[in-house]
Amino acid sequence: MKRVHNFSAGPSTLPLEVLKKAQSELVDYHGKGSSLLEMSHRSPEYTAINEQAAARLKSILGADDDWEVLFLQGGASSQFMMVANNFLNSSRIANYIDTGAWSAKAIKEAKLFGSVHTSFSGKEGNYSHIPSDSELTFADGALYTHFTSNNTIFGTQFQKEPENGGAPLVCDASSDFLSRPLDLDKYGLIYAGAQKNLGPAGVTVVLVRKTFLEMQRSEAIPTILNYNTHVNKLFNTPPVFAVYMVNYVLGWIEEKGGLDAFVKMNDEKANLLYDEIDRDDFYRGTVEKEARSKMNVTFRLGNEELEKVFLSEAAQNDLVALKGHRSVGGIRASIYNACELSSVEALVSFMKEFRDKNG
Ligand SMILES: Cc1ncc(COP(=O)(O)O)c(C=O)c1O
Repeated sequence: MKRVHNFSAGPSTLPLEVLKKAQSELVDYHGKGSSLLEMSHRSPEYTAINEQAAARLKSILGADDDWEVLFLQGGASSQFMMVANNFLNSSRIANYIDTGAWSAKAIKEAKLFGSVHTSFSGKEGNYSHIPSDSELTFADGALYTHFTSNNTIFGTQFQKEPENGGAPLVCDASSDFLSRPLDLDKYGLIYAGAQKNLGPAGVTVVLVRKTFLEMQRSEAIPTILNYNTHVNKLFNTPPVFAVYMVNYVLGWIEEKGGLDAFVKMNDEKANLLYDEIDRDDFYRGTVEKEARSKMNVTFRLGNEELEKVFLSEAAQNDLVALKGHRSVGGIRASIYNACELSSVEALVSFMKEFRDKNG
């Protein structure tokens, strides 16, 4: 069996233990004579998985009974629309902090349903900056304050929750969910596509506070898009295999020591990589140091030709998926929870050799 050092931004590397467990159960799930892929989502087997995944998620985050966990389809992109569809109307307003392409997409959707106050926009500065609280402005009476905790494309991350302007935070946490603890008291709703830190593509995790849901707009909302539909019951077929995988990833997070342990591991990996980037001018970080992401490390080399050679030689050394997002170019190493320290060490040692050869 060969496993490469996988730095994909998503879908991303998964814990090998989890993959192997799923492999061993794929054809015959727990002696039932059929695969989980072939079972009803109303079966006792799947019901137990769904319940365990929700309970594990709440326990890992320290969420109390005011929080509901939903496993939805449609990706984080559909949450851009669903959040606004549930909470905004023509007489309501929400604050949005624009720190990257994903925030901008969320804003575009929100404007279809209500008014948007842009609390800050980093667009002019090519999204290399994360605003401090004093740079944010807020609308009076806003329903919520939306932010993207980690900007997968540009490689920036809020180092802590932003000020909310008196309105609950709504967070697109797709690319750093469960990489660190959250101050849940500040939030009304958190959503994340699973395919980075949580599991395979196909399921979007939504955590929503019941007291926040009471602020839903009063007009009719299409059934499938109404959060309450999913809070009240398992409304339609969930992405069963993706939730099953998420459940095992959550178990793996618990075994490793929970979020405090992941903060340490993620810090160690990110520091190793940023130290190498900062060693001299051969590699150049693309964003302000204070804004650097611990999940998506973005950097450039002297010119695009050299970057091509870097990517090609890296691949020959089993260091794969390092190409920056097509909209920004350069190099991006995504080092989510399941990316092993040994993979980052292998990348850093390749970077040293490459500099020695080409610097
Ligand atoms: C921060 C962030 N938000 C939203 C998305 C879109 O997610 P999806 O493809 O699940 O709709 C991504 C995907 O990379 C992302 O990184």
